[in-house]
Amino acid sequence: MTILVTGGAGFIGANFVLDWVDVHEETVINLDKLTYAGNLDTLSSLQGNTRHVFVRGDIADSQLVKQLLTEHQPRAVINFAAESHVDRSIHGPEDFIQTNIVGTFRLLEEVRAYWKDLSPEAKQGFRFLHVSTDEVYGSLAPDAAAFTETHRYEPNSPYSASKAASDHLVRSYHHTYGLPVLTTNCSNNYGPYHFPEKLIPLMIVNALAGKALPVYGDGQQIRDWLYVKDHCSAIRRVLEAGQVGEVYNVGGWNEKPNIEIVQRVCALLDELSPRADGTSYNEQISFVTDRPGHDRRYAIDARRLERELGWKPAETFETGIRKTVQWYLANQPWVENVQSGNYRDWVEKNYSGRAV
Ligand code: NAD
Ligand code: TYD
Repeated sequence: MTILVTGGAGFIGANFVLDWVDVHEETVINLDKLTYAGNLDTLSSLQGNTRHVFVRGDIADSQLVKQLLTEHQPRAVINFAAESHVDRSIHGPEDFIQTNIVGTFRLLEEVRAYWKDLSPEAKQGFRFLHVSTDEVYGSLAPDAAAFTETHRYEPNSPYSASKAASDHLVRSYHHTYGLPVLTTNCSNNYGPYHFPEKLIPLMIVNALAGKALPVYGDGQQIRDWLYVKDHCSAIRRVLEAGQVGEVYNVGGWNEKPNIEIVQRVCALLDELSPRADGTSYNEQISFVTDRPGHDRRYAIDARRLERELGWKPAETFETGIRKTVQWYLANQPWVENVQSGNYRDWVEKNYSGRAV
């Protein structure tokens, strides 16, 4: 048996592939375009492993997707491939429309054509699992209840709007064509192999480099954090037992304001890799101009997944963030490798004029 994973060289996709090869006998076909966010270094431990087949390519390349489906006959497709960074979507939304909307559409079209011709038994067992985000639900008031699966869609950034569009396409392929789809909407992830453009890895990497720790606005925006391995276990569980056509919210019940996250990272670094002058990394915190349209609060109600499929996160925020900081301290060469020219250009573009 085989599964096809898209975007499996990115942060969550690669963690998923590494875990999958550990726990399953099945082969993984990994289709990834290797944008700035795709990194084969993350998958280096799979070199020579015949149960991992890496293919560089675009989910919007219909010919390639058709060929991979025909050749490998996967029993499931898990779609991680996306442009995923809100700030980048503000500076340049086009790639988000292209990959998240057009790409998902083309992928769905090829998967539909493939699935339609499978044997009745294979057809029934087949799944298309779409990995999405809580950001499609928009921003919550401070006292509002956490997002359930029926919360209305109110995306506020080009990133979340493009993911919302992809979720709707996936839903429509089930309702219109009967494609056996599953959708997961997860809160903010953190953990190993996270590209240092996102909050937690950026703070660790900047702190260690003696650079400013740029906190947007007042730092009181709230995110709901989940350790990436827990997201991966949730996806495996939904793939295994999720009800076709349904949506599952995934979250860790870990709502925290950004400033607390940054201070926690600083405290862990103070303990594990203290600054030479003996003062705290907190000294490097710098409040900068806010992100336009910045969502104030996200919070996930993950009770459905727990109640119906018995899933629970294994990590608390405390255990997960400690593991994460330790991982970055032990994997400096990985960090140095991803800080390529493209990354440096990005930092220049995003933070110039923000008074860091
Ligand atoms: P990422 O940016 O780290 O990785 C995305 C991967 O997709 C990269 O390897 C990239 O090369 C690849 N890719 C981009 N465009 C492609 C294309 N057209 N064809 C094939 N491959 C392409 O993202 P991530 O953080 O790993 O997120 C993975 C998925 O999970 C995304 O769909 C994202 O919306 C969703 N998600 C992310 C989070 C989070 O906190 N990071 C939370 C919830 C949901
Ligand atoms: P991010 O990791 O970009 O994820 P998302 O925007 O998808 O939630 O950002 C997490 C939070 O941290 C978000 O509220 C924006 C904030 N943030 C900063 O304050 N400073 C930064 O340099 C970055 C990248 C993010």
